[in-house]
This record gives sequence, C-alpha cells and structure tokens, in this order.
Amino acid sequence: MPAAPARRRPPPPLPPPADRQRFRRRLLAWYARHGRDLPWRKTGDPYHILVSEIMLQQTQVDRVLPKYDEWLRKYPTLDALAAAPERDVTAAWYPLGYNIRPKRLQTIAREAVARYGGRLPADEATLRSFKGIGAYTAGAIRSFAFRERAAILDTNVARVLFRVFVGEGDPKSHAMTRRLWTLSETLVPTRRVFDFNQALMDLGAMVCVARAPKCPVCPMAKGCRTVSAGGAAAS
Ligand code: ADE
Repeated sequence: MPAAPARRRPPPPLPPPADRQRFRRRLLAWYARHGRDLPWRKTGDPYHILVSEIMLQQTQVDRVLPKYDEWLRKYPTLDALAAAPERDVTAAWYPLGYNIRPKRLQTIAREAVARYGGRLPADEATLRSFKGIGAYTAGAIRSFAFRERAAILDTNVARVLFRVFVGEGDPKSHAMTRRLWTLSETLVPTRRVFDFNQALMDLGAMVCVARAPKCPVCPMAKGCRTVSAGGAAAS
C-alpha cells in the first residue's frame, strides 16, 4: 500500500489560562532569585531604555555596560543627542560595531524633538513610525518605560517560547514567528510587565541558551514540550 502523505500536525493550541498563570508565577519567582542587576533595569526613562535596546542589538551585555553609562553622561536626553554633531555621535559609539546604530539613534532623537517635544511617544503605532524602531523595540519601550502591557519577541525570547510551548516545527519560519508573537502577547501579564519581560530575556540568556540549555535548573522544565520530547536541539 502506498504510504499516506505526511500530514502536518496542527500547532499546539495556545496555553490555557492555568498554564499561563503557572508560567508567569514560575518565571517571576526565578527572576527574583536569579535575574541580572543591569543599569537599564533601574530606569523608567524611555530614551535610556531606547539607548540600551539599540546598544544591545547584536552586542553582548558585557560590552554594552561601560558604553551605556558613558553615552548617557555625554547625551543625557533626546535633546542633547539631537543637537550633537553627527561626527561626534558616531565617534562616541566606538568601539561598539554596526555604525548605523548611532545614526539611527540620532535620527530618532531629532524626530522626537521635531515632532513630539523631545519625548518618545507611548503608543505602538507612533513608536513604530520611527525608522529604527521595530516591533521588538516598541514592545521593550512600552513595557519597560511606560509599563504598558506590551509583548516582546527577540531571539532569546523566541527560543524560550518555542521550546516551552511548541517544541516542533521550524522555529525560524514566518508562521512560527507570528505564532510566537501571539504566545508572547497571551502570556504577558497586566501587572509586573517590566519584570516579566526582563525575566523572559534572562531565562533565554542564562538558562534556555541556544547550545547546551541548562534544563536541570530551568523553572520551566516540568511541562516544557521540548524536554518532554527528549531535549532541545541547538537552535
Ligand atoms: N537584550 C536586549 N534587551 C535586553 C535587556 N533589557 N536586558 C538584557 N538583555 C537584553
């Protein structure tokens, strides 16, 4: 008999409320004990959050730490950054790479000064109208600075949500990315949004790492779809 055509299994449904609640509770408890003490976690200033997020794109936390403080001493506000000569701004970024980033940051600052009185707006559509602010950065600014119930999805968070709640399929496909955004939106709590999103990032950076994840110490191991399926492939 010819083999039946391989059927794609439908994706697992979104976690029911009790599972979401358990995930939030375990994550926040883990973060209270193990979360990193980082300077951009001690501020609610949207510009400072923006600086940290742009610096952290493709750059390790350890390399960002000294530059973050130095940058904010030099350019403490959007107004100060908007008014600075472009050459100085690019020089001040050194030795962080990807030199398009300081230019983007300054373009955002100039637009914020020209159109929004030197402030970053809180609503998603306006934030995303800035060149250089995508879905992730908008979610980070809204949840970290404005404490809005906004979801985030970066590489680390996507890996955590994929492994815990999905466990099969192509983690990098567009369809999966949409699904992981929906998951992140479903999970983000109404209170403690800041801690929840920072905790998701820390879990991805410290435990649910790409290669050799530390499942034995992971607060999500029980109930994790990837652990149940026999462990994580490097991703
Ligand atoms: N990477 C991107 N944003 C971050 C944050 N707020 N904390 C730690 N790592 C990050």
